[in-house]
Amino acid sequence: MGIPMVDLKRQYQTMKDEIDQAIQEVIDTTAFVRSKNVNRFEEEFAAYCGAKYGVACSSGTTALHLALRACGIGPGDEVITVPFTFIATTEAVSNVGGKPVFVDIELDSYNIDVSAVEGAITKKTKAIIPVDLYGQPADLDPIFEIAEKHNLTVIEDAAQAHASEYKGKRIGSLSPFTCYSFFPGKNLGAYGDAGMILTNDEQSNERMRMLCDHGRRGKYEYEMEGYNFRMDGMQAAILSAKLKHLDDWTEKRRRNGQLYNQYLREADVVTPVEKEYAKHVYHCYVVRTKDRQKIQDKLKEEGIASGVHYPIALHLQPAYADYGYKRGDFPVSEQCAEEVLSLPMFPELTEAEIQRISALVVEVTTR
Ligand SMILES: Cc1ncc(COP(=O)(O)O)c(C=O)c1O
Repeated sequence: MGIPMVDLKRQYQTMKDEIDQAIQEVIDTTAFVRSKNVNRFEEEFAAYCGAKYGVACSSGTTALHLALRACGIGPGDEVITVPFTFIATTEAVSNVGGKPVFVDIELDSYNIDVSAVEGAITKKTKAIIPVDLYGQPADLDPIFEIAEKHNLTVIEDAAQAHASEYKGKRIGSLSPFTCYSFFPGKNLGAYGDAGMILTNDEQSNERMRMLCDHGRRGKYEYEMEGYNFRMDGMQAAILSAKLKHLDDWTEKRRRNGQLYNQYLREADVVTPVEKEYAKHVYHCYVVRTKDRQKIQDKLKEEGIASGVHYPIALHLQPAYADYGYKRGDFPVSEQCAEEVLSLPMFPELTEAEIQRISALVVEVTTR
């Protein structure tokens, strides 16, 4: 039997009645757009994360876009982030007219190297976007300190880190803005695209809420031009039903992470490091290896999926050629792009499957 990276069919089978009922209710009430389901899910998810406000939107990408607009970032402004992330992080900066400025990552956590941030700050810098890659929060406190010292805002990209914790506190309540994606394969995933921004700031909440819905104050009264970045009622209903399971799924992901660590003990790979300040939620289970291609080939032969998040660091992408970055500028990101390998990870993955995958990795890396 094959093993996929993520198995959403298996998850659906564990809660079919709840999902079917949520969907049917949306159809019965025709609550498709701007519905009370959306407000309910905003309140539920904000409360779950300990934040005052949640602004539901159409994706993780538009969540970042709205947060950047809420703090007035636009043409001429610089935003510091990492080149080892999904392009949405930097795309959002460019799409509001800003310029992404890269700093390298740490080799053990794969997250922003805080010691490099101050060196990248210029007069034009307005914000820092730490990314909680693979489900582990970046080291937020020193980032907050730097931000305060230089009068910058922090927009946390938590697209991969629902329910993770920093120093015992759930993320979402800590940064001025925390942006989530509910892309189907995420730890909390919709049945289509969806996203949310959490904030404790009332003004930002209001501004993002307006921007998200054409800059509307009343039905046909517009405070500013905005976007149609709304979350669908159907996605909100599904996400409300799924949120009830997130704690259980998170613990299962963590258990699966531990099982991989255990079964990969003999393998010549670097297993994930959980930093002392972090509760890692294993959106991805990522090892580092010089034998990546060999492992992927072997797994594929056995019908087992694997992935690379991400094979080309952003500063070396054609999309950013105009910035003039070159190979060697961010060596840790470049090394990771060559060596990281994501193994199947989802809550319903069984111990026997983890054992089987790990045995193949051991075989390839030690023979
Ligand atoms: C780190 C990161 N940022 C942003 C995004 C964008 O989210 P979405 O696909 O919902 O637009 C994703 C997810 O794909 C992501 O992994």
